Amino acid sequence: MALLKILHYPDPRLHTVAKPIAEVNDEIRRLAADMAETMYAAPGIGLAATQIDRHIRMLVVDISEEKNSLLTLINPRILLKEGEAMHEEGCLSVPGIYDKVSRAERIRVQATNLAGESFELDADGLLGICIQHEIDHLEGKVFVEYLSRLKQTRIKHKLTKQAKEAM
Ligand code: NI
Repeated sequence: MALLKILHYPDPRLHTVAKPIAEVNDEIRRLAADMAETMYAAPGIGLAATQIDRHIRMLVVDISEEKNSLLTLINPRILLKEGEAMHEEGCLSVPGIYDKVSRAERIRVQATNLAGESFELDADGLLGICIQHEIDHLEGKVFVEYLSRLKQTRIKHKLTKQAKEAM
Protein backbone atom coordinates (compact mmCIF):
# COMPACT_ATOMS: atom_id res chain seq x y z
CA MET A 1 0.00 0.00 0.00
CA ALA A 2 1.09 3.58 -0.48
CA LEU A 3 0.21 7.05 0.66
CA LEU A 4 -0.95 9.24 -2.23
CA LYS A 5 -0.36 12.96 -2.66
CA ILE A 6 -3.52 15.02 -2.13
CA LEU A 7 -4.09 17.98 -4.47
CA HIS A 8 -4.72 21.29 -2.74
CA TYR A 9 -7.19 23.97 -3.80
CA PRO A 10 -6.87 26.08 -5.99
CA ASP A 11 -5.13 23.41 -8.09
CA PRO A 12 -7.05 23.43 -11.41
CA ARG A 13 -6.91 19.61 -11.60
CA LEU A 14 -9.52 19.55 -8.81
CA HIS A 15 -12.01 20.84 -11.40
CA THR A 16 -11.68 17.79 -13.66
CA VAL A 17 -14.88 15.80 -14.20
CA ALA A 18 -14.12 12.13 -13.43
CA LYS A 19 -14.87 9.32 -15.90
CA PRO A 20 -16.95 6.22 -15.05
CA ILE A 21 -15.06 3.04 -14.12
CA ALA A 22 -15.76 0.36 -16.75
CA GLU A 23 -14.40 -2.64 -14.82
CA VAL A 24 -13.63 -3.24 -11.15
CA ASN A 25 -10.27 -5.03 -11.39
CA ASP A 26 -7.21 -5.49 -9.18
CA GLU A 27 -5.79 -2.12 -10.18
CA ILE A 28 -8.99 -0.41 -8.98
CA ARG A 29 -8.96 -2.46 -5.74
CA ARG A 30 -5.32 -1.48 -5.14
CA LEU A 31 -6.10 2.17 -5.74
CA ALA A 32 -9.09 1.97 -3.36
CA ALA A 33 -6.82 0.50 -0.65
CA ASP A 34 -4.26 3.27 -1.17
CA MET A 35 -7.00 5.90 -1.07
CA ALA A 36 -8.31 4.48 2.23
CA GLU A 37 -4.80 4.44 3.72
CA THR A 38 -4.25 8.04 2.56
CA MET A 39 -7.59 9.14 4.04
CA TYR A 40 -6.90 7.49 7.42
CA ALA A 41 -3.36 8.88 7.57
CA ALA A 42 -4.45 12.47 6.76
CA PRO A 43 -6.66 12.01 8.89
CA GLY A 44 -9.96 12.51 7.09
CA ILE A 45 -13.42 10.96 6.75
CA GLY A 46 -13.67 10.96 2.97
CA LEU A 47 -11.52 11.04 -0.15
CA ALA A 48 -12.43 11.12 -3.84
CA ALA A 49 -10.10 9.86 -6.60
CA THR A 50 -10.10 13.40 -8.06
CA GLN A 51 -8.22 14.59 -4.96
CA ILE A 52 -5.29 12.26 -5.68
CA ASP A 53 -5.25 13.28 -9.35
CA ARG A 54 -6.96 10.12 -10.64
CA HIS A 55 -9.99 11.21 -12.60
CA ILE A 56 -12.20 8.16 -12.26
CA ARG A 57 -15.46 7.83 -10.34
CA MET A 58 -14.46 6.29 -7.02
CA LEU A 59 -14.56 7.54 -3.45
CA VAL A 60 -13.91 6.21 0.04
CA VAL A 61 -15.62 7.31 3.27
CA ASP A 62 -15.45 6.28 6.91
CA ILE A 63 -17.17 8.49 9.46
CA SER A 64 -16.78 6.05 12.40
CA GLU A 65 -14.71 6.95 15.48
CA GLU A 66 -13.05 3.52 15.37
CA LYS A 67 -12.13 3.80 11.68
CA ASN A 68 -13.67 0.41 10.99
CA SER A 69 -16.60 1.30 8.72
CA LEU A 70 -14.92 1.86 5.39
CA LEU A 71 -17.23 2.32 2.40
CA THR A 72 -15.94 2.34 -1.16
CA LEU A 73 -18.32 3.73 -3.77
CA ILE A 74 -17.60 3.18 -7.46
CA ASN A 75 -19.65 5.09 -10.05
CA PRO A 76 -21.92 6.52 -7.32
CA ARG A 77 -25.23 8.06 -8.33
CA ILE A 78 -27.64 9.95 -6.09
CA LEU A 79 -31.11 8.52 -6.70
CA LEU A 80 -33.00 10.58 -4.16
CA LYS A 81 -32.47 13.75 -2.15
CA GLU A 82 -34.71 14.83 0.74
CA GLY A 83 -34.77 17.80 3.08
CA GLU A 84 -32.08 20.35 3.71
CA ALA A 85 -29.32 20.57 6.30
CA MET A 86 -26.56 23.09 6.99
CA HIS A 87 -23.33 21.72 8.39
CA GLU A 88 -19.78 22.93 8.74
CA GLU A 89 -17.55 21.13 6.23
CA GLY A 90 -13.84 20.79 5.74
CA CYS A 91 -11.81 19.09 3.03
CA LEU A 92 -8.39 17.45 2.80
CA SER A 93 -7.84 19.53 -0.36
CA VAL A 94 -8.61 22.77 1.50
CA PRO A 95 -6.56 22.40 4.71
CA GLY A 96 -7.53 24.54 7.68
CA ILE A 97 -10.72 25.93 6.12
CA TYR A 98 -14.15 25.09 7.56
CA ASP A 99 -17.48 26.63 6.59
CA LYS A 100 -21.20 25.91 6.46
CA VAL A 101 -22.70 24.38 3.34
CA SER A 102 -26.33 23.55 2.59
CA ARG A 103 -26.94 19.94 1.47
CA ALA A 104 -29.78 17.45 1.26
CA GLU A 105 -30.55 15.98 4.69
CA ARG A 106 -31.09 12.46 3.37
CA ILE A 107 -29.93 10.76 0.20
CA ARG A 108 -30.24 7.39 -1.48
CA VAL A 109 -27.16 6.41 -3.48
CA GLN A 110 -26.61 3.62 -5.97
CA ALA A 111 -23.02 2.51 -6.49
CA THR A 112 -20.79 -0.47 -7.32
CA ASN A 113 -18.63 -2.10 -4.62
CA LEU A 114 -15.11 -3.58 -4.88
CA ALA A 115 -16.58 -6.97 -5.83
CA GLY A 116 -18.19 -5.29 -8.84
CA GLU A 117 -21.71 -5.61 -7.38
CA SER A 118 -24.32 -2.88 -7.48
CA PHE A 119 -25.81 -1.74 -4.16
CA GLU A 120 -28.03 0.99 -2.76
CA LEU A 121 -27.43 2.93 0.41
CA ASP A 122 -29.62 5.34 2.39
CA ALA A 123 -27.51 7.94 4.16
CA ASP A 124 -28.29 10.88 6.42
CA GLY A 125 -26.41 13.01 8.94
CA LEU A 126 -22.64 13.17 8.57
CA LEU A 127 -22.49 10.16 6.22
CA GLY A 128 -25.00 11.73 3.83
CA ILE A 129 -23.10 15.03 3.83
CA CYS A 130 -19.76 13.32 3.35
CA ILE A 131 -21.00 11.29 0.36
CA GLN A 132 -22.51 14.41 -1.26
CA HIS A 133 -19.23 16.28 -0.69
CA GLU A 134 -17.16 13.46 -2.26
CA ILE A 135 -19.49 13.05 -5.25
CA ASP A 136 -19.07 16.80 -5.85
CA HIS A 137 -15.30 16.18 -6.12
CA LEU A 138 -15.97 13.67 -8.93
CA GLU A 139 -17.89 16.45 -10.71
CA GLY A 140 -14.90 18.77 -10.31
CA LYS A 141 -16.51 20.76 -7.53
CA VAL A 142 -14.83 21.79 -4.26
CA PHE A 143 -17.04 22.77 -1.26
CA VAL A 144 -15.67 26.34 -1.13
CA GLU A 145 -17.49 26.96 -4.42
CA TYR A 146 -20.75 27.07 -2.40
CA LEU A 147 -19.36 30.04 -0.43
CA SER A 148 -19.45 33.72 -1.43
CA ARG A 149 -17.03 35.05 -4.07
CA LEU A 150 -15.30 37.10 -1.40
CA LYS A 151 -14.70 34.05 0.81
CA GLN A 152 -13.46 32.03 -2.18
CA THR A 153 -10.94 34.76 -3.08
CA ARG A 154 -9.72 34.93 0.53
CA ILE A 155 -9.33 31.14 0.72
CA LYS A 156 -7.44 31.06 -2.61
CA HIS A 157 -5.02 33.73 -1.41
CA LYS A 158 -4.50 32.05 1.95
CA LEU A 159 -3.80 28.59 0.47
CA THR A 160 -1.59 29.94 -2.32
CA LYS A 161 0.48 31.79 0.30
CA GLN A 162 0.70 28.65 2.49
CA ALA A 163 1.85 26.58 -0.50
CA LYS A 164 4.57 29.10 -1.32
CA GLU A 165 5.77 29.19 2.26
CA ALA A 166 5.94 25.40 2.31
CA MET A 167 8.22 25.28 -0.73
NI1 NI B 1 -13.20 17.29 0.03
